[in-house]
Amino acid sequence: MKVLMINGSPRHNGNTFCALQEIENQLAKHNIESEIIQIGTSPIRSCINCGSCRQKDKNGCVFEDDICNTVSKKLSESDALIVGTPVYYGQPNGGVLSLMQRVFFSAGQYAQNKPAAAVAACRRGGATATFQSLNMMFQMMNMPVVTSQYWNIVYGREKGEAKLDSEGMQTMRTLANNMAWLLSKIHADGQPQYPAREPWDKMSFIR
Ligand SMILES: Cc1cc2nc3c(=O)[nH]c(=O)nc-3n(C[C@H](O)[C@H](O)[C@H](O)COP(=O)(O)O)c2cc1C
Repeated sequence: MKVLMINGSPRHNGNTFCALQEIENQLAKHNIESEIIQIGTSPIRSCINCGSCRQKDKNGCVFEDDICNTVSKKLSESDALIVGTPVYYGQPNGGVLSLMQRVFFSAGQYAQNKPAAAVAACRRGGATATFQSLNMMFQMMNMPVVTSQYWNIVYGREKGEAKLDSEGMQTMRTLANNMAWLLSKIHADGQPQYPAREPWDKMSFIR
């Protein structure tokens, strides 16, 4: 089994990375593979609602000059997703929001039913709103949200300071243990067992 992790931080070896690395190390103890993809400093486009990805012959996002379609492909090959972000003004940073909105809109079928979790790194405040913002996306993709002993938050300002947040690091290890436990239940029969779904009732309030 494989867990895909997105690091929304532009900073290499920053605090979001420390949190994700702690999860990665703990998942390895359960023999679960993981991969951390960092957005880095390359530009990420926002969704322009062009609808191209919804056309029958299209696969993925029309913009191919950033990592969106690469992330979607990796998500299709993964069993679970963890999205980590630094807190910027009490929210996920712009790049990670743009990326995940486009991945879910253009390739949401690869997210369906897969366990997911959000992780936030902050200096002082705004982490719970950030955490909730990412969870909002998972909750409309039929993704079971994996919890921990506390909200998945680590504290630190300068790179690496989050490693000193011992409770935050423990929260990450607990998250990894809970993720491993849920994956073992979903994959108990070899093939993943997901619930049946009704066809989407696309009701609109204006027609
Ligand atoms: C533009 C910007 C806005 C920020 N806003 C907040 C904030 O609202 N609350 C907070 O606690 N820290 C804030 N920070 C600090 C970062 O969240 C903090 O340094 C975090 O550890 C960075 O994670 P990273 O090392 O993974 O990039 C901000 C940093 C930047 C660059």
